[in-house]
Amino acid sequence: MQPRAVATGGAGLHARAAAKGLAFGTAITAGQLRDPALAALVRAECGVLVPEYQQKWDRLEWRRGVLDAAAADQIADFARDSGLRLRGHALVWHEAIPAWALELDARGLGAAMEAHVAAAAARWRGRIATWDVVNEAIRPEDGRLDWLRRTPFLERLGPDYLPSAFRLARAADPAARLAYNDFGCEHATVAARRKRMGVLSLLRALRANGAPLGVLGMQAHLHAHLPFEADEWRGFLADVAELGLAIEITELDVNDARLPADTAARDAAVADLTRRFLEATLAERAVTTVVTWGLSDRHSWIRAGRLPLHRRTDRATSRPLPFDEELRRKPMWGAIAAAFDSAPAR
Ligand code: XIL
Repeated sequence: MQPRAVATGGAGLHARAAAKGLAFGTAITAGQLRDPALAALVRAECGVLVPEYQQKWDRLEWRRGVLDAAAADQIADFARDSGLRLRGHALVWHEAIPAWALELDARGLGAAMEAHVAAAAARWRGRIATWDVVNEAIRPEDGRLDWLRRTPFLERLGPDYLPSAFRLARAADPAARLAYNDFGCEHATVAARRKRMGVLSLLRALRANGAPLGVLGMQAHLHAHLPFEADEWRGFLADVAELGLAIEITELDVNDARLPADTAARDAAVADLTRRFLEATLAERAVTTVVTWGLSDRHSWIRAGRLPLHRRTDRATSRPLPFDEELRRKPMWGAIAAAFDSAPAR
């Protein structure tokens, strides 16, 4: 089966989103923006950019006390010069703690984390539409009654690190919307159902605590081989909306590593899940934004094979994003475009 071509020309994804009061964007690296063809594609298709890793703590403060913001600034400046909104990602994430900070005791880690959140949020103050303040803090498998993931933050600082991070971010950047961001909620699986319970319970706790939380970010790293049920997903989104939160899809891609190699069949399956997922998602009026975790398959973290479930056992390469390695539109692009075109206006 040959890959199915998708028409070129016509409105880009952000233009289609904006027609409905929505926004579309991508994760990007500073290096990728130096490729003129990719930079042009970003300008043609996107209204939002998010640094894929340049604002993470271990990148910003790899040397204790020194803020290395050069790469993140390049992305922020490109966004400003191109009229794109900027998402901030991610202030507090257990996978991005600098090596030096992991060696600190409770008091030291607390102080370092507070200084980092204050400095990063202040650095881009007024320029960030939404900050992912806390990333991936829920893990039901860790067996706690509050569903919290056992991280160095939790173990050394206790659960108060969560509302504290939001308050610090708010103090340093009063205008940004502040998000809690997580993955693994989207599918109709036992694990995802448990995760949704955990996320909802955290959102309710943060609200009850008065923390300045405005947005739930759902990463939407989808898996082509897993079931998706529109009704149960919409029910969850409605529960979140009822808390008065906006919802952003923050890292959309579709892992096809468990599908047979045939390229056209994989592209069709990826597009089909994308269409079903976005139709259900965009029907919820609290959803404002869709961001993919890269534009081109060439740059996908899935292709990099960092996680075991991203690795194929054959020689085929993953195709999780809307553009192929030559930056041509794939069926997934068509699925996103169609979902925006049929979405109710905000
Ligand atoms: C990933 C990036 O894509 C990689 O390049 C980086 O080295 C590690 O992080 N959830 C998140 C993102 O919130 O920050 C992760 O990004 C992917 C999973």
